[in-house]
This record gives sequence, structure tokens and C-alpha cells, in this order.
Amino acid sequence: MRILILGSGAREHALAWKLSQSARCDRIYVAPGNAGTAALAENVDLSPIDLPAIAAFCRAEQIDYVVPGSEDSLVAGIVDAMADTPGLNRVQVIGPSKAAAQLEGSKAFAKAFMQRHGIPTASYRVFQQAELEAAKAYVASHPLPIVLKADGLAAGKGVLICEQAEQAVAALEEIFIHERFGRAGKQVVIEQYLRGIELSVFIFTDGEHYVLLPEAKDYKRIGEGDTGLNTGGMGAVSPVPVADKAFMKKVEQRIIQPTLQGMREEGMPYRGFLFFGLMQVAADPYVIEYNCRLGDPETEAILPRLQTDLTDMFFQFQTGSLARLSMTISPLHAFTVVLASAGYPGPYRKGIPIRLPNSWPANSLVFHAGTRWENGRLVTAGGRVISITSLGNQLSEAREFSLQLANQIDFEGKYFRKDIGWEFLPTKTE
Ligand code: AMP
Ligand code: GLY
Repeated sequence: MRILILGSGAREHALAWKLSQSARCDRIYVAPGNAGTAALAENVDLSPIDLPAIAAFCRAEQIDYVVPGSEDSLVAGIVDAMADTPGLNRVQVIGPSKAAAQLEGSKAFAKAFMQRHGIPTASYRVFQQAELEAAKAYVASHPLPIVLKADGLAAGKGVLICEQAEQAVAALEEIFIHERFGRAGKQVVIEQYLRGIELSVFIFTDGEHYVLLPEAKDYKRIGEGDTGLNTGGMGAVSPVPVADKAFMKKVEQRIIQPTLQGMREEGMPYRGFLFFGLMQVAADPYVIEYNCRLGDPETEAILPRLQTDLTDMFFQFQTGSLARLSMTISPLHAFTVVLASAGYPGPYRKGIPIRLPNSWPANSLVFHAGTRWENGRLVTAGGRVISITSLGNQLSEAREFSLQLANQIDFEGKYFRKDIGWEFLPTKTE
């Protein structure tokens, strides 16, 4: 089996690591990859959104499966593009069609879809660029805080939580008049703020059947105590103690099943990984967002707990027989911490040498994100540099291993949060 993974983060390194354990996997390519994926797979210098180039590569290398790590190629329509390219019907892309990827690609689409199918989510209204005055009036009459979301993809920066109405009005002007989010901000979703515990639930589906992957909680803010700017994610834990059986049953019945059924009824069955960003409010789940891919850093926490072979999952996906698959999940706790460059999520330097220890305990895994080789040296190449995941019988044990290794990996300006998982640890972190 020959597999092409698209992306260059720690999520893609974790996917390559997991796939490399499968006896059926003959060859793994990662486009464009990083220094970590280069050790397990072959990096290829292709952009994940250059669909014609990816199609040509798949033909030349007889690729069986394409695994998009992030949403960009899916929202751009890679599934449809490959299906429409002559001679490429053997290539299976692990992801939804362009139409189904709108669940992530358009927040207005996702909200209206949830409303049509009675899926619990924050109450909302959508406003177009020409409706600035109406949007301001809505904000003025709405309880605070209030959440503003640019409709389209905005690289994770399109969500603003406003504590004051003036702040929301100023943000609306920024989005509609100054086009702060470009095309992504032609429409804005304004929604109710939900107070609760946020967590990420993942499924893998062939459109009809689905399997649950381990759930995770990610820590998005840069600062300890969940303060400061939003980032791509600074760490994750899995399992999430508040996602007990009763809660997960509600998630399946109220959210997962109606979502898949709704997509089928609307003629765009959803296939691939689906990530439900949820808020647990008084024991009930609400959808904050859908993502048409796995999460980063959640993937680094959940794949090490997944004992099922990913290539088996891909095969059953391709044949529409995921119902036959039984999933095996390790009961161990995973603790992932992200090492970031100084300055991230603002501007940061690249090209800083990284020193890794010669070895580390077998229950710890090092997944590269922004790293590359430069003149024989491993150097930083991004804001998030490395994700470290450790497994332990308890979360506190996993944490100890990950933080120990985080201290041993060295690069100038290295920053990481020591309080990942704080609400689930027996005592507060030091
Ligand atoms: P998103 O880009 O949709 O992931 O949103 C970024 C973050 O904003 C989410 O991870 C939540 O922490 C927060 N958020 C988004 N929508 C809401 C909401 N309705 N209520 C509370 N927090 C929200
Ligand atoms: N960690 C959140 C995401 O991948 O969107």
C-alpha cells in the first residue's frame, strides 16, 4: 500500500508514525513534511493545495491513499478533483467531498445545517457585508459576551469573543469595512457565548457507518491558566474525564448520528475524519464547530492510544464496510505538550538549532512540527516546533514523562505550557 500524507505539522508526523507501523504499508510520502517525517517517510516538495501537482504525483507513484492532514485541500475540493481526473480512480482520498467539507469551510453553512437537523449549537444569526447596521443593532440587543465568526476559513483567527458591545461593533467594522479577514469575512456568524468545558470528539466514517476515535481536550491559549492569544494548540490530553459514557451517548444520539444522517439526506454523505468541537454545558453537548479533519495537537494524543491499524480503517472506508471494524483503544492516558518558538503566535524567528537527547523512554514520542534540516543541523521552521506525547497509567504520570522530555529538548526561546491538563490533575501544577 502506498500512501501520500498532505501537510507538515506534528499531526502529519503522527499519522506517518502510525501508518509506518502497519505491515501493509509499503511506502509513505509526506508533502511537504518536516524533519521528523523525513525519518519515517519520503518528503516531497508539493503544496497540499496544488491539486494538479498532487494528481500527477499520485499517478506517477501509484498512490493508493491520500490522507489530507489539514482542511485546505479538502475545502479546495481534492476529493472531487481526484475522482474527476482520468486514470486516478484507484486513488482513494481519505476525506469528504468539497460539498461535505463545507461543514468546516463555511460557518454559516454549518450553523444552518445544524438548525435544519435539530443539532444542539449556540443560537445565532448570519449577517452579510451589506448588513453592517443590522449586525450592530443585533449585537447591541444581545447578552454579553458575544461571539463573532468570519464565515470562511481564516487560519483559526476568525473567531472573536467580545466582552463588550463596543468591542463587537468595532470588530464588525473591521471585518465588513476594512475586510480584516478578506473573503472569509463577507458573511459573519454572530452567536451566543457558551460557558462550559470544551472538548474534541472524532469519528471516522464511510458516510453510512462510523467508528469513534478517542476524544481529547486541547489547550488553545498561549498562556498558562488559559490566558493570552489563541494558538493552533499548545497541548492536549486524552481521554477526557468529563466525556463519560452518559455524555458520549448524548454526543452520538444528538450530534454524530443526526449529522451523518443530515448529510446523507442532503445528498452529500460525509466521508472521512470528522472532528466535533464541542462545549459541555451542564452535562449536555453543543457543537462549537465542525472540522473536516483531525485536530492538531489532538492527533498526537489520540493516535498513540489507537491500537487499530489505520490501513484497516482506510480499507473498510473504501469499501463502505466500516461497520465490520472493531476499534481497540488503549486505556492509557496520553499527555501532549507543544514546544513553541519565542513570540508565537505572533512573529517568531526560524532557523534556530534544536538539540534532542540521544534517547528517551519508550512511552514518550516526539512528533516534529516546524522543523527542518539545514546544512546538516536540525533547526526550527515554525511557531509550533515539536509535540511530545507520553502515555501513562495516570495523566499525572504521562505528564511527568512529557515535561521531563520537554526540559531535555533544547532550542533558544523554547516555550511550553506546564499546565496542560490542569483541571484533570490531582493537584495544581507547580
Ligand atoms: P473556532 O475557530 O471555531 O475553533 O473557535 C475558536 C475558539 O473560540 C473555540 O475553540 C472556543 O474556545 C471559542 N468559541 C467559539 N465559539 C464559541 C461559543 N459560541 N461560545 C464560547 N466559546 C466559543
Ligand atoms: N486543535 C484544534 C484544531 O486542530 O482545530
